[in-house]
Amino acid sequence: MFDLDRYIEDCRAAIAHGEDGQKAIREITARAVADHGAVLRTLGEPAGGGLVALHRSPELTILNVVWQPKMTVMPHNHETWAVIGVYTGAEDNIFWRKLPGGKIEAAGAKSLRVGDCTALGRDIVHSVTNPIGKLTGAIHVYRGDFFDIERSEWDPEALDERPYDLEKAKSMFAAAAR
Ligand SMILES: [Fe+2]
Repeated sequence: MFDLDRYIEDCRAAIAHGEDGQKAIREITARAVADHGAVLRTLGEPAGGGLVALHRSPELTILNVVWQPKMTVMPHNHETWAVIGVYTGAEDNIFWRKLPGGKIEAAGAKSLRVGDCTALGRDIVHSVTNPIGKLTGAIHVYRGDFFDIERSEWDPEALDERPYDLEKAKSMFAAAAR
């Protein structure tokens, strides 16, 4: 079984005493989603898109991220590291490289399927699509308070940098649910 309280405690322990924690949290999360059926039973079958905080502190944020079918989030950065573990569905990532002047160009891709776990460095710029016709659920862990970090997004057509708009991002997840 997947014990959510234990998982959160293990993640918090990994950053105790000011440790960076990413490597340990990647291992903890990879182990969790290797048994994705157990994670699904504990978190529940996704019922609608959203960003649900399972844990939030100034040091660490753990989200249950549910992507609507075929939903895409524009290129953005996090200004902190991340660990992502998919427990149902799929996330397709495009990674972008910053160019002088603020624009970006595509630099690589990574597909995550159920049971996959990956770590993103703090300088990563990515866009994410749920490529399938059903809800995708993933655990996302961020060092720091995900909801209180100044960061950037890039217009998906012009690829110009602008401040990240958290409220718009939240409403995208919610709007896709309607
Ligand atoms: Fe992201």
